[in-house]
Amino acid sequence: MEVIKIEGGRPLKGTVRIDSAKNSTVALIPAAILADSSVILEGVPQIVDVEHLGMMIEQLNGKYEIDNDELTIDPTHLINTPLVEGAVNKLRASYYFMGALLGKFKEAVIGMPGGCYLGPRPIDLHLKGFEALGATITQEAGSIHLKAEKLTGAKIYLDFASVGATINIMLAAVKAEGMTVIENAAKEPEIIDLANLLNGMGANIKGAGTGEIRIQGVTELHGTRHAIIPDRIEAGTYITLAAVAGDEVKIDNIIPHHLEALIAKLREMGVDIEVHTDHVIVRGRKEMKAVDFKTSTYPGLATDLQQPLVTLLTQATGVGMVTDTIYSDRFKNCFELNKMGANIKVQGNSAIVQGPSKLSGARVKATDLRAGASLVIAGLIADGVTEIGNTYHIDRGYSNIEDKLNNIGAKVWREDVTE
Ligand code: EPZ
Repeated sequence: MEVIKIEGGRPLKGTVRIDSAKNSTVALIPAAILADSSVILEGVPQIVDVEHLGMMIEQLNGKYEIDNDELTIDPTHLINTPLVEGAVNKLRASYYFMGALLGKFKEAVIGMPGGCYLGPRPIDLHLKGFEALGATITQEAGSIHLKAEKLTGAKIYLDFASVGATINIMLAAVKAEGMTVIENAAKEPEIIDLANLLNGMGANIKGAGTGEIRIQGVTELHGTRHAIIPDRIEAGTYITLAAVAGDEVKIDNIIPHHLEALIAKLREMGVDIEVHTDHVIVRGRKEMKAVDFKTSTYPGLATDLQQPLVTLLTQATGVGMVTDTIYSDRFKNCFELNKMGANIKVQGNSAIVQGPSKLSGARVKATDLRAGASLVIAGLIADGVTEIGNTYHIDRGYSNIEDKLNNIGAKVWREDVTE
């Protein structure tokens, strides 16, 4: 089994350059098949999820070529093929092919998606949106079959401002006849990035980033070139990491506006953050005051950052409570942190963190992508060596993590160990 090993206690200094957004890229790749000619995505992150989506493009007889960080998708000879096993089960974002294939071919057969277990993750809002546009949906043998004689624009109200449902409905609606209005839509920056790509392909989408998105259907979409936005979650992870373990760390190639909630909370704790147009400088390893955190949909504090923030709270003075209003079971990292000497109690969808705690290296396991990040941060300040298993979770969302950390003075390496 491969593990990531970290020798803790080394103060970090230097620059980390943030990659393009995973949660945008995994929507843009399926969206590209809606075009009748090649789509070029600039700045594609080198993460495993991108490889798996590429496999699905090729399963559909599309062409998929990465040259450095530029990804060209050629959907000219696409064939509507059921995506029911293999790569489709590796990540949750596979389900964006439901909306994209429905939008392009009016039919899709997709296996149930994979991804991190964070509590029940239904897709009822996605399916409700597809039905509103005219699709009939059947489920057989673990896959979902969507089919529509015609896709007609509709007014769709989302009971919850779901990122995935908003994206999937946009993908199915761009070529529907007439106007689709998504109400209580998600406002995440990745939604705006997708709308910008689709509009660059000839779609007619207004209001992305607000709670009401209006999509006037068009008959065809053409190729385009699109630069992907920076990853606000990777950025927030490294900012939090720098607050815990950094002497002085520059987190570069970011959009600080996307991180306002995080920056405000860290300043409340007494973290020294200098904000510039496309980067921040964090001077960490200082006395911090524990505060409470509550996640919410954008522009609130991102649920994807609560697990790294729990690690930060273990180093702050006092008791901090982290409440995740988005997922009901996203605290498994707390039990691993306690093995390292943290003092965290998990109650329902909250974690109560008493700090500061002296952390020691231990053998721990990443239970999901961001849990892995929280353990990496803990390892950077723990006494001795920390060994983190299930590295595949971390590699899904953090490209070249050991290079990025070793370049700022950490000591991180991978090893194969017997189970
Ligand atoms: C996206 O997941 C992100 N994933 C998640 O990031 C992120 O945590 C989440 O948005 C919230 O910001 C990608 O973009 C690939 P949701 P998604 O639909 O779309 C409930 C990471 O670490 N819900 O906004 O699945 C659902 O159960 C990942 O990068 C329904 O009830 O999130 C959850 O409680 C983890 N019915 C809540 O909404 C539905 O049909 C948030 O889900 C859909 C969602």
